[in-house]
Amino acid sequence: MALRSTAGGWGSVTRTFHWGMLVLLLGIVSVGYYMTTLPLGPVKLKIYALHKSIGLTLLVLAILRALWRLSEQRPALPVMPIWQVRVAHSAHLLLYGLLLLMPLSGWLYNSASGFPLQWFHVLNLPALARADPHLKVLARSVHEIGAVALIGVVALHALVALKHHFIDNDVTLRRMLPWRGDRF
Ligand code: HEM
Ligand code: HEM
Repeated sequence: MALRSTAGGWGSVTRTFHWGMLVLLLGIVSVGYYMTTLPLGPVKLKIYALHKSIGLTLLVLAILRALWRLSEQRPALPVMPIWQVRVAHSAHLLLYGLLLLMPLSGWLYNSASGFPLQWFHVLNLPALARADPHLKVLARSVHEIGAVALIGVVALHALVALKHHFIDNDVTLRRMLPWRGDRF
């Protein structure tokens, strides 16, 4: 499988980003909802720190993924009405937006709450803003609503992929799968 995407199919770098980030997202979203239910204590603090570190990792991956995607061509879509092409492109753009919004709003929330931020005990990160109760509430709401939006858009996106595979019988899903080579 080629590293870069071609007119015929997605390259291995894009496929690795795609499925690797899905795994990390499933983890961070589950941890995110679970940790908020825990009683205050050292376990809760450790899990919060893990959530933040995975989130910061996802931020770097989202930036690298977007840069990589801008640097290569995308495979042609199967023949479909123009409105479906537009919806598909807009959904991908929205997913990139949410992949950036989620970690940035989390970082902002952390900063506005006045907490320090570390990436896996290795790197200290600066605050994005000063401690501020109003900004804290705003960033918290963006993070919360963004999570619901991300789950909703990903669910629709996955359903559309399955529709292409099982109903339209086209190559859309097959050529994104990690174990399929360049021949679909
Ligand atoms: C792609 C990245 C991220 C995703 C998908 C994500 C997702 C989530 C989810 C689903 C929740 C639970 C929401 C709720 O209780 O309503 C949550 C909570 C939280 N997230 Fe994230 N998060 C991400 C990155 C980050 C980052 C980078 C930080 C901080 C640097 C962060 C800080 C927090 C905090 C502090 C909470 C708990 C909120 C509270 O207790 O009020 N998140 N996140
Ligand atoms: C089970 C879950 C998922 C399935 C079945 C799935 C399926 C697919 C398929 C088949 C494509 C190729 C579409 C085309 O050729 O136009 C695609 C592309 C894409 N998917 Fe997913 N996807 C899933 C999860 C996700 C998640 C979690 C994200 C990010 C939040 C995401 C973001 C994207 C993006 C941005 C593209 C465009 C290609 C790129 O820039 O990487 N997908 N997906």
